[in-house]
Amino acid sequence: MAEDFVVTPWEVQGEVDYNKLIKQFGTKPLTESIIKRIEKHTGELHYMLRRKIFFSHRDLDVLLNDYEKGKKFALYTGRGPSGNTHLGHIIPWIFTKWLQDKFDVPLYFQITDDEKFLCKPNLTLKQTHEMGYDNALELIALGFDHKKTFIIVDTDYSKTLYNNAIKVAKKVTASNARAVFGFTNETNIGMYLWPAMQAVPCFLPSILTGEKIRTLIPAAIDQDPYWRIARDVAPKLGYPKTAAIHNVFLPSLTGPRGKMSTSTNMESTIFTTDDEKTVRKKVMKYAFSGGKDTVEEHRKHGGNPDIDSSYQWLRFFEEDDKKLKKIYEDYKSGGLLSGELKQILVDKLNNFLAKHQKNKEKARDKLDKFLLKD
Ligand code: TYM
Repeated sequence: MAEDFVVTPWEVQGEVDYNKLIKQFGTKPLTESIIKRIEKHTGELHYMLRRKIFFSHRDLDVLLNDYEKGKKFALYTGRGPSGNTHLGHIIPWIFTKWLQDKFDVPLYFQITDDEKFLCKPNLTLKQTHEMGYDNALELIALGFDHKKTFIIVDTDYSKTLYNNAIKVAKKVTASNARAVFGFTNETNIGMYLWPAMQAVPCFLPSILTGEKIRTLIPAAIDQDPYWRIARDVAPKLGYPKTAAIHNVFLPSLTGPRGKMSTSTNMESTIFTTDDEKTVRKKVMKYAFSGGKDTVEEHRKHGGNPDIDSSYQWLRFFEEDDKKLKKIYEDYKSGGLLSGELKQILVDKLNNFLAKHQKNKEKARDKLDKFLLKD
């Protein structure tokens, strides 16, 4: 039986039971029939849909109904700049890019320098602000189109955000915020306003155009509590309820408990800024192995890919189903050793990161084109 686990926007502990989480949070599973409906419009399925890395949703069916009637929608996602970007953060962004390309829709991307200043005792506003702009480059490096992608750095877009956040805040009581986010008497009052700030971009396409445009939010399930608040408030302010599609967490390299996160597993976290050697060192040292103790035993009995971190990570980064299947089978049969499997992951990540890091450098000159200003 799975042990207890906790998932909040600030903390993920234990081995997450995603089916239980769907019930706890009151979301819906991403069923085969809804995935087929997506495929009807996109012509193919992203590997993160095929592998159920995206597993749950809110009102995606409603959004598709509208879309099929010719209504527009927009994408919304974001990042809280508390440090360098790690490989977990970019999982929803990779999928968001695919959605943007396939549906040809705008993306609003919120960078919450204010949130991270408020909730991280040791960070100054100057630091979160600077990291916010660095994190923006990580998004751009994934190939987003500046004509359709609008980046908001909260403290530099404060006029629009604040004017709309107070309208949201007026409809949310402290007891509601406590129930949803676990705020206490010790929580600073900035955080009590914070959920209203993260709700605003849910409505931004409607606010900016004057039309009723629903947003779809691709993000890990930890952010869902915000969408509960935003969805409660939406009809009261005359906006469509935001829809969401949730991904599971890229697990920590050290095993299936918790998510990859700098707060709990700093040393084994792989950042998009890591060089080849560092990636190799981290994978070789920390990746939990599902292999047997000796080569002889492994050859004879095979390894267990289902608990092996390197294999689990390849599910997130190896797009080719055939290659992945072969790795699974070779590892299970004992043909592929643990060290060899780790090396496959190292090569995959380093290949991706070499391109990504080059693109990040090029992104510096383009940044201005993406920024939404008020
Ligand atoms: P942040 O910076 O904690 O996370 C950024 C995005 O990464 C997702 N995520 C992960 N996905 C897969 N595996 C992991 N190990 C992992 N860790 C984090 C998060 O769910 C998120 O999608 N408050 C937000 C910033 C924000 C935002 C938004 C995020 C503002 N508006 C709208 C998503 C959608 C934050 O601190 O995210």
